[in-house]
Amino acid sequence: MATPPKTYHVKSFGCQMNVYDGERMGELMARQGMSVADDAASADLVVLNTCHIREKATEKVYSEIGRLRRDDGTRPMIAVAGCVAQAEGAEIARRAKVDVVVGPQAYHNLPDLVSKAAKGGLALDTDMPAASKFGALPSRRRVGPSAFLTVQEGCDKFCTYCVVPYTRGAEVSRPFDAIVDEAKALVDAGAKEITLLGQNVNAWEEDGRGLDALIRALDRIEGLARIRYTTSHPNDMTQGLIDAHAQVETLMPYLHLPVQSGSDRILKAMNRSHSRDSYLRILDRVRAARPDIALSGDFIVGFPGETDQDFEDTLSLVADVGYAHAFSFKYSPRPGTPAADMDDAVEAHVADERLQRLQAAIGEGQAAFNAHSVGRRCEILLERKGRRPGQLIGKSPWLQSVHLVTDAAIGDIVTVEIESAGPNSLAGVERVRTAA
Ligand code: SAH
Ligand code: SF4
Ligand code: F3S
Repeated sequence: MATPPKTYHVKSFGCQMNVYDGERMGELMARQGMSVADDAASADLVVLNTCHIREKATEKVYSEIGRLRRDDGTRPMIAVAGCVAQAEGAEIARRAKVDVVVGPQAYHNLPDLVSKAAKGGLALDTDMPAASKFGALPSRRRVGPSAFLTVQEGCDKFCTYCVVPYTRGAEVSRPFDAIVDEAKALVDAGAKEITLLGQNVNAWEEDGRGLDALIRALDRIEGLARIRYTTSHPNDMTQGLIDAHAQVETLMPYLHLPVQSGSDRILKAMNRSHSRDSYLRILDRVRAARPDIALSGDFIVGFPGETDQDFEDTLSLVADVGYAHAFSFKYSPRPGTPAADMDDAVEAHVADERLQRLQAAIGEGQAAFNAHSVGRRCEILLERKGRRPGQLIGKSPWLQSVHLVTDAAIGDIVTVEIESAGPNSLAGVERVRTAA
């Protein structure tokens, strides 16, 4: 590998925080004078920004590396970033030919690592330095109408199944002022909506101020029409944040609040530190503050020791809550986590069947929520082109995708009446245009 790369391609897997990190890595490379390649096949440097959350996600990195080999036997320079880089480190280079391994807290050093690798050998940095990487990143320049902004990283909760506390480190909140500055830069760069991100975003705090104080500050930024946040932990759902849902107009009526299981026995084994009932009581308070809120969650089926009754408890919780949307996963044992050593593994075919039943129940709830939207008049933030001529796709306040034919532009907010609903999206017709 003699010549330094001139073009790059970043491919992100996993959560939205990886998407954010991937954008920032791209900006770092652009600052070095590199240009973005159309695809991985034509890039001099490919950054695989990886996810370690489940076994399948982790294995993906190795199949992706294999696919980067070209017919003539050459390959691009390969940098493995993200949570697999943090978890497996130099081990990755033993399994596959890669040039750079860089962890999620060290990627501000990516340009240096790439230069080092261009001279030959593996360049590795999986440090978790006390000084944050954010100060070393270039300012935001060009973004779409809906942008991500990481405000909190890491996790101290140590759910027994989860790798995040190990791959992302301890909970750290970015400084208030730095976040407000980045939010303003994002708005100047074209953002109308900002989604605040964190592995436990509602654990954000500074000098006793919580996420609600940050949201109230961002609400005052001119040109910022919508604020969202994800992912939250039930134990950090303060009354202040719940009140913000009643009081802050730009805070969208949507809450992603993972619960994982409806069974107290399993929640205890997962070390979730909340019960089924305490979770439901939180949702009661959220709904009291914002009756139209769309609720979302995450579920794991097939956790060690999960009985039929435990699973029925999860199904009944789904029915009780009436989620607008939810993610569900089959438990995947992760090396180094306490649950990986637990007995009473659930047989694969039982877990598969539970996942299917749960997904069907969640799908029904989502279809019902969407059907309930028909006839509603709401504002849609237009985000991208649709397949048909003149068609654009945007998001409702409740994070539903809405298709409509309009002569408005991407980035505009239009008032729409919802005319029909499918399981995954809605169709609307424009009523009165509001100024963007
Ligand atoms: N911090 C967030 C979630 C981060 S991981 C929270 O606590 O809610 C995203 C989701 O992946 C989790 O909510 C969980 O549902 C799922 N997940 C995490 N570890 C998993 C594992 N070992 N097997 C299957 N699903 C897992
Ligand atoms: Fe993982 Fe639990 Fe932390 Fe979420 S709260 S990131 S599931 S350890
Ligand atoms: Fe995956 Fe790391 Fe996000 S493990 S889900 S990329 S925090």
